[in-house]
Amino acid sequence: MTQVLSQRRVILGITGGIAAYKAAELVRTLVRAGAQVQVVMTKAAEAFVTPLTLQALSGREVKTELLDPSAEAGMGHIELARWAELLLIAPCTADTMARLAQGRGDDLLTTLALATPAPIHIAPAMNQQMWAQASTQANLTTLIQRGVTVHGPAAGEQACGDVGLGRMLEPEALHQAIEAALVSGALAGQHWLVTAGPTREAIDPVRYLSNHSSGKMGYAIARALRDAGASVTLVSGPTQLDCPDGVTRISVDSARDMLQACQGVNADGMIACAAVADFRPAEAAQTKLKKGEGDLNQITWVENPDIVATIAQSPARPRWVIGFAAETDNALANARAKLLRKGLDAVLANQVGDGVAFGTDDNHLHWVDASGDTDLGHAAKSVLADALVQRLITLTKD
Ligand code: CTP
Repeated sequence: MTQVLSQRRVILGITGGIAAYKAAELVRTLVRAGAQVQVVMTKAAEAFVTPLTLQALSGREVKTELLDPSAEAGMGHIELARWAELLLIAPCTADTMARLAQGRGDDLLTTLALATPAPIHIAPAMNQQMWAQASTQANLTTLIQRGVTVHGPAAGEQACGDVGLGRMLEPEALHQAIEAALVSGALAGQHWLVTAGPTREAIDPVRYLSNHSSGKMGYAIARALRDAGASVTLVSGPTQLDCPDGVTRISVDSARDMLQACQGVNADGMIACAAVADFRPAEAAQTKLKKGEGDLNQITWVENPDIVATIAQSPARPRWVIGFAAETDNALANARAKLLRKGLDAVLANQVGDGVAFGTDDNHLHWVDASGDTDLGHAAKSVLADALVQRLITLTKD
């Protein structure tokens, strides 16, 4: 099953109202959808629900203190504020709304609200009289003007016996709202697997066989897929590149490691951009081979598994499998042959050699599929990655 919120990073702030008990259910549904949920509680919230409950449901230690040396030694509050893709405060009391409106930072939650670049959402919950109060309504207006998204409250019978506006929205409704806020874009709800970079095949403890791949094209594709709303797993050989934010990277060395990592990913689509070494020594030597003794002439080379072909021909095949064809000659004809031989849905043909493609910031790609080929042009790899994702959007709609 596709986890729509796979790896999305949410801080859930819980403040002190009776609706705090519903936050437990909210954590459960967000986690089930794949989100990483960091719960932050105010002191008052702890009177209604225990941190232990929320820790068990979120799988993460609940944060409660602003000036806690041990918590700061792990992920400090500024780091946590930057980590979040969205801060949701549910339930949000009248007092918390007032403190947010004033820009106070006298506890962990309000400090995070000040320090985070992420969008802030609140789900107010309070007695109907408190909600109707002019001061609360003025704070609400201030918060909305500053870009805070407000969910609810709903009307109905309240815990105190009153009837009116002030109930927190149900966890399922909040879950839907968070999903809509985080997951937008044409590939929302899809999980894509991208391979990138070179592989390294050990010869002995100090030597390996590899190639010039920088990983730039694959990383650019992972970023473009993420921008289109997909959740992305990047299986990468050794590169100098930073993992794009919001993308999950699995770092590997050899072709066999790369295959194993890919087989562990349940994806809707795969783009194989890695420059996989075709051969490896049958066995890596345990000690350094000596040239004087002719050891280097004795290496037996065996063929590596073809990762994209294996995945494309496996029972657990993603719906779309797309490869690359790095060619020095006859790029289109060779790409077409690879399309058929490996059982792919499309191949991106790129000319290599003479300084083009490997390590450079630009590339020239042709999209080749059963119906023909299209020139995607010569451009920066990031631009080509966006053009490729546009084609994927069309492909996945059919
Ligand atoms: N590929 C792969 N596993 C391999 C070799 C290649 O997954 N062991 C993938 C690449 O990631 C790329 C496509 O197959 O998507 C084609 O790679 P390329 O190096 O162009 O072709 P090869 O299959 O290695 O064929 P040849 O070396 O004969 O051109």
